[in-house]
Order: sequence, then structure tokens, then C-alpha cells
Amino acid sequence: MSAFLDAARPETPPAATTRFRPAIHFTARDTWLNDPNGLVFHDGLYHLFFQNNPYGNVWGNMSWGHATSAELLHWTEHPVAIACDEAEDIFSGSVVVDHGNTSGFGTAESPALVAIYTSAFKAASEHSGTQAQSLAYSTDAGMTWQKYDGNPVLTRNSANFRDPKVFRYQGDQGAYWVMVAVEAHHQKVVLYRSDDLKSWDFLSDFGPANADAGDWECPDLFPLAVDGDPAHLKWVLIVNVNPGAVAGGSGGQYFVGQFDGDRFVPDAGSLAAPAGVSSLDASAAAAALQQCLWLDWGRDCYASVSFSNAPNGRRIIIGWMNNWDYANELPTHPWRSSMTLARELRLATVNGSARLVQQAVLPAGPSADEPVILAKDLVMADTELRLPAAVPGTAQVIDADIVPGAARQLEFRLFGGNDPESGTFLRYDMAAAELVLDRRNSGSTGFHEKFASVETVPVCLEDGALNLRIVVDHCSVEVFAQGGKVVLTDLVFPDQECRENRLAVRGGPATLRTLSSWTRR
Ligand code: FRU
Repeated sequence: MSAFLDAARPETPPAATTRFRPAIHFTARDTWLNDPNGLVFHDGLYHLFFQNNPYGNVWGNMSWGHATSAELLHWTEHPVAIACDEAEDIFSGSVVVDHGNTSGFGTAESPALVAIYTSAFKAASEHSGTQAQSLAYSTDAGMTWQKYDGNPVLTRNSANFRDPKVFRYQGDQGAYWVMVAVEAHHQKVVLYRSDDLKSWDFLSDFGPANADAGDWECPDLFPLAVDGDPAHLKWVLIVNVNPGAVAGGSGGQYFVGQFDGDRFVPDAGSLAAPAGVSSLDASAAAAALQQCLWLDWGRDCYASVSFSNAPNGRRIIIGWMNNWDYANELPTHPWRSSMTLARELRLATVNGSARLVQQAVLPAGPSADEPVILAKDLVMADTELRLPAAVPGTAQVIDADIVPGAARQLEFRLFGGNDPESGTFLRYDMAAAELVLDRRNSGSTGFHEKFASVETVPVCLEDGALNLRIVVDHCSVEVFAQGGKVVLTDLVFPDQECRENRLAVRGGPATLRTLSSWTRR
């Protein structure tokens, strides 16, 4: 077993060499992964650590896998960074660059990377049955890690205290470390502070609020400038919830508010249910759930957290592209599960309130083909337009800016085959003003009873137009609508020969201001 952990791991083989392997989404070579962990930029590289089972392709033996990338699109997998042992599983957490050598693990000239992770203690441990926060550090730029011998550094004697995200806070009283973590079963985010990452003092807690029907997991807290104005900062608190997300099962919600170095206070406008939707009756709860703020309205975006130390003040998140409802059953082998694309976040004023806007990080590069312009100022009524078919080994990006006008419905059919009923359908319905992603008839859905699904999200036209960026990889569809104000991510496992894409306009004329398609590998 340990020989396996020590072995240098070869690069992930290219897409399409194994069924459904994505072209531009990270997968582990031949094992299971879940949450992104310890996202950090250091010395010119983005590090993606991740919940990994080094011994199999279902959840278990939780350890931190490791991959790096210079551009957030293509990743190289490295040996397991922090491995489970008889005493503990290594659950989710974060990594900071300890610039001031506050921990003493590095030097001022050569700062250590410090991982703050959850020890999920097992029977062999004196802490058995509890989850507590522990440290590991690296003095070789993240390639090898030492566990701190004073672990755990923070315990509440709780069975569900986990997922620490640590950041450096600079306030009027000076700088210190802040940890946001969760008491998962109590739907609480708990905040602590430290000067050296080793000794922690309680600050405050937050929750339950909004979506609280399941565990709260993997929180994050960071400031962003509203509409790019550095004088107008707001804080975003991400709280992942499982189950009880808007599309069912696991998903990520967020709150916008203020953080004063001690306490997070949400804006009234980001509280759809101040005491939590579970305090409401069923119909009020369903309505409130729609009003909560969601990072993603699809089934498959969970545990999203942001990079620390990202250059130029960028705030970039990655999510786990899966859902605990069926995660262990996905029909892939030997790998199972992938990450979403990296997504850059901004805060923009939407209908008077600050809301997250997300852009897929799709850096230009030699393997990006020139966009094919399929339509420009083209009026279409009750017809279909054929788009380039998917090419194995590449992901496809479809960009559309459409004025639906008098049309009743726009419908993209992705992964289409001979049977006109089959495919993944992305529809915009004018009367309902809703974007709908329907994967019920797209290839393999029977591996779990909860997989076949239809996701629906309200989307208002802007100046009469619908703007879409659709990123289609071998087993996923990510939709960024209205410049990224609404995001929708679903896995799909289409039949191998189903590669056709079409756009249909129904019930009247629509104007395709622009429609283009390009590939990325
Ligand atoms: C979220 C989660 C975390 C936990 C990890 C264990 O998906 O349940 O709360 O740390 O996965 O793998």
C-alpha cells in the first residue's frame, strides 16, 4: 500500500482513451476523488489538492491527492500529498502560504505551505469519534508534507466539526489568521482566529439560515469589490449544503454581507429564510429555497472553495462536479468523479443587490481552435440549425447571444443521435422565463434512481437577450447564463455515437445576434 502512495504517478492519460474521461476537467488517473482541498497559488503554480481514495474508486481511505497547473485548465497529478493512516482520515481543508513564518515551519525567506485539514479520527486514535483540525506543512513547494506533531490544534469534542478554510485577515488591529469551519449537523459556520496557526480562539458563529435541510460543509469567506470598486467591498460566505440544495442533494449556497474581523453579518437581501428553510412549512420552504443565493443551479457542483494567494487579487473557485445523491455510482472506470472548470468570481449589482457573477476560466492556448461563427444577426423561425458535432478528445464551447423576440422556445440539443428524442436538452421558455436543463434522455441514466433529472432556473432576458456560454465536455454540461449571473452544471453520460448539436427556434422568429462554437483540449 505505501509503495503505491510513494510511487510517482504518471500523467493522466488524454481524454477519450477511457470512456467519458473529460478533456478539460480534472480527474484522478485511476482513483476516486471528491472535494477540492487546499487550493493555493504558489511560485507560479496552482495547486489542487483533493479528497482522494488512493486505493479505489469509491469514497473511503480519505487522503489528499495532489495536482498542479500553470493555467488552471490542464493538470498534472502528483503522488498523494497527505495520506490517511490507522488513526485518522484526512478530510477537507485549506492551504495557506505562511509569508510571515508565523508558524515557524518555514523561514521568512522561504515560507512554508501550511495545510489546515480535518482529522476524522478512527478507532485506533485516542480522539476516536471526533473531528478536529490539524496541520501539515511543506517546505518544498507542496510536493511533500509533514504532519505537525502537536495535532490536533483545534477540537470542540464534536463528531462533525470540519472543513477549515483559513485566510489572512488584515484589520485595524493588525493582521491575523481567520478560520471558517462548520459544525455540519448544526448548520453552523464557526469562526476562529490565530496568530501562529497552532493556537486558535473562538470568534463567532453563523447559522442556521437559508438552505439548512442538510449538513453544512466546506465554507469559504472572502471579500470582493462590488462592480470592481475597491472602495466598496463586501464579503461573500460560501456554505455548501448536503442534502437540501435547490436542484436536490448537494449544492453550494452563498451569503453576501460584512465581516469585521470577528463576525459575519449577512445583508438582509441575502436572507431568504433568516431562521433556515427548515423552520418554514413545505410550500414556504420551497419558495424560499428558490430565493436563496446559489453558486450553481445544477445537480453537479459541490464543495466549491476558492484559491488562496491567487495573483492579482483574483478570486477563483473550483467545485466538485458531482452530487452525493449518486456520487459513488457514476458509470466510469477506473477513475470516478471530476472537478468543475475553475471559475473566476466577481460581485456585481443585480437588481440593486450585490450578487456573484462567474466566468469559466478558459485561457487561450495553442490547443484552442478559432471560434466558428455559425450565425450573425440571423433571424430564425420554427427551424433548426445544426452546430458542429462534438469531436472526441476535445471539449466544445458554444457561445450564443439570442433575442428570442416572438419565439416561444429556444432549444439546444446536445449529444444528439439518430433518435430525435434523445440528447441533453437546454431550453429557454419565454412564457416562464426559465432556463431548463433536461438530461433524462441522455445516454446512461439508470445507474441510480436519482440521476435522471430536469433542472430549472429563472433567467430574465437582458435588453431582450439571452446570453449563454455552454461548455460541453465528455460527461458534463456547464452553462453560464447572462454573463455568468446564473450557472447550471450537470453531469451526463451520453451514448458514444451521440455527438450532434442543434439549436431549434419554436413558435415564432428569434434573432441570433451571434452564435459561435469552438473547441478546447
Ligand atoms: C463534503 C465532505 C466534507 C468532508 C469530506 C470527506 O463533500 O463531506 O464535509 O470533509 O467530504 O470526504
